Amino acid sequence: MVRYGILSTAKIGRDHVVPALQAAENCHVTAVASRDLAKAKAMADRFGLPHAFGSYEELLASPEIDAVYIPLPTSQHVEWTLKAAQAGKHVLCEKPMLLKASEIALIREAAAKHHVIISEAYMVTYSPVWLKVRELLAAGAIGSLRHVQGVFTYKNHDPHNMRNIKSLGGGGLPDIGVYPTTTTRFATGKEPKRVQANTQWDPTFGTDIYSSVRADFGDFELSFYISTQLAARQLMVFHGTEGTIEVKSPFNGNGWGEELLEFTNADHSRSEMHRFPTSHQYRRQVEAFSKAVKGEPVEIVSLESSWNTQKVIDAIYRASTKDGWEPL
Ligand SMILES: NC(=O)c1ccc[n+]([C@@H]2O[C@H](COP(=O)([O-])OP(=O)(O)OC[C@H]3O[C@@H](n4cnc5c(N)ncnc54)[C@H](OP(=O)(O)O)[C@@H]3O)[C@@H](O)[C@H]2O)c1
Repeated sequence: MVRYGILSTAKIGRDHVVPALQAAENCHVTAVASRDLAKAKAMADRFGLPHAFGSYEELLASPEIDAVYIPLPTSQHVEWTLKAAQAGKHVLCEKPMLLKASEIALIREAAAKHHVIISEAYMVTYSPVWLKVRELLAAGAIGSLRHVQGVFTYKNHDPHNMRNIKSLGGGGLPDIGVYPTTTTRFATGKEPKRVQANTQWDPTFGTDIYSSVRADFGDFELSFYISTQLAARQLMVFHGTEGTIEVKSPFNGNGWGEELLEFTNADHSRSEMHRFPTSHQYRRQVEAFSKAVKGEPVEIVSLESSWNTQKVIDAIYRASTKDGWEPL
């Protein structure tokens, strides 16, 4: 069993990842750390965890922990990933791991130097829905892919939420712009060559709140929009010469009800609905990462993929300040 420590009492940990770690067959949670010991103790009591620490440093010093899960504000992901690696802990770090593609060099170096596994927590890439999309595309179910369409929006005006605080790595692109790009790259195995973008910023928060993006993958195009200040919506559509695949609630379906994947052929004479009532994507994620820690063969999110994800986001920001295409 891989023994995990959790850095912070973050909502994503409480709601999804700690329960997933506790349900998983190859790991358990040994400790939680918070900047406030009382919060750490309250979370340890709630989940029946043996140890609570009043600082992240104390947790990293514990010999009873093999791996850490890092759901800190985005601006602290690189810093604490490096500190955890230096302490000899394997790291499952929340998305986005980076805020600039160039930061990957430090992460790669730390993983190699301290002999630890570091992976970004893109739960979607462990989801049976996305494995099915990848399988259908590889089997040529929709012929030649020509266009991917995506949307991810929610409405959050809370000035205290990290998504609306620039210094904590807030902004729509780091929070959700990463999903249409990551899932398209995951499902197709292709990388974009250039992007165009129109982005709007909140005048008070200073964070990006809306982006409409075109990404040129050579054989096909991805167009998507995201927003942190629009009515909630999620959808991904893959459009090929011989059919379409629509993924409804494609990113965090567990919170949105059933995840549905609909395949329809070219003349609509055949349609299949694949239903994923509970995809357990967070559990699959931590089980896969724990296998990797134990040296078992398994596919996890690679550092190269994290680097490529951030290259797209960096290019979208650059494209947002000019007309026309921006190369990656
Ligand atoms: N994969 C997914 O499905 C998913 C979903 C949601 C979020 N996320 C990612 O997970 C990360 C955390 O998101 P969240 O919404 O769960 O965050 P959150 O509830 O705001 O928690 C962040 C935690 O970081 C700690 N922290 C340290 N310094 C802080 C500071 N200066 N200000 C505020 N908090 C600070 C706090 O814990 P202590 O006070 O206990 O130290 C806080 O509870 C983000 O990077 C986000 O992108 C991923």
